[in-house]
Amino acid sequence: MKERTRYIESIYGEDPILEKVKATIIENEMPSISVSPGLGRFLTLLVRLSGAKRILEIGALGGYSGICLARGLGEEGELVSLELKEEYARIAGKNLTEAGLGGRVSYLVGDALRTMASLVEKGETFDFFFIDADKQSYPGYLDYAIQLANPGAIIAADNTFLGGKAMDESIPDDRVKAVRTFNQRIATDDRLLSAMLPAFDGISLAMVK
Ligand SMILES: C[S@@+](CC[C@H](N)C(=O)[O-])C[C@H]1O[C@@H](n2cnc3c(N)ncnc32)[C@H](O)[C@@H]1O
Repeated sequence: MKERTRYIESIYGEDPILEKVKATIIENEMPSISVSPGLGRFLTLLVRLSGAKRILEIGALGGYSGICLARGLGEEGELVSLELKEEYARIAGKNLTEAGLGGRVSYLVGDALRTMASLVEKGETFDFFFIDADKQSYPGYLDYAIQLANPGAIIAADNTFLGGKAMDESIPDDRVKAVRTFNQRIATDDRLLSAMLPAFDGISLAMVK
């Protein structure tokens, strides 16, 4: 852990609910790729600041970011979370229930691009998006998020530096190309107001006009 991160975490201290989520991820032999505590707090703050009532999360894993997002919602708020693996969605759901947030979340299992296409067909809309699933699909997730967005909706995406690889044009890898395409589009699409923050592994933020 970097010195700055260690300092921040020493101020906030451990969050027992989120520590338990991390433990269940290890117990269930899932990858330890949840958002960091600092990004989790930032997501809670962003959701609360935005006043979002309906969130679409893309990539649930064990529910760590789901808890952080749901914590920012008001009493009436709802989180819809998309996850490829049924077992992960089940574990995430259990973790949100144990965190006292089970009533606010529903999981849609399957490939998120397909699920988002069906949400568009059904005319569903959301106020906040958190993109944190497979990197190849980031440009597609952005396109669908814009279609599913209420005016003023916020789109947040994690790992837009891709561990530093996004800055390297010479890497002929589909994941890198997709994230570079995503970064270019979110920065230049006229329908969005956006910023890319050099924090964590790169956080991109946009508001749909
Ligand atoms: C980085 S993890 C999500 C971490 C989670 N947001 C958190 O911080 O707690 C990525 C998740 O996306 C899921 N995923 C990967 N490809 C997917 C797809 N095509 N559709 C839906 N989910 C997918 C993975 O199974 C994994 O659970």
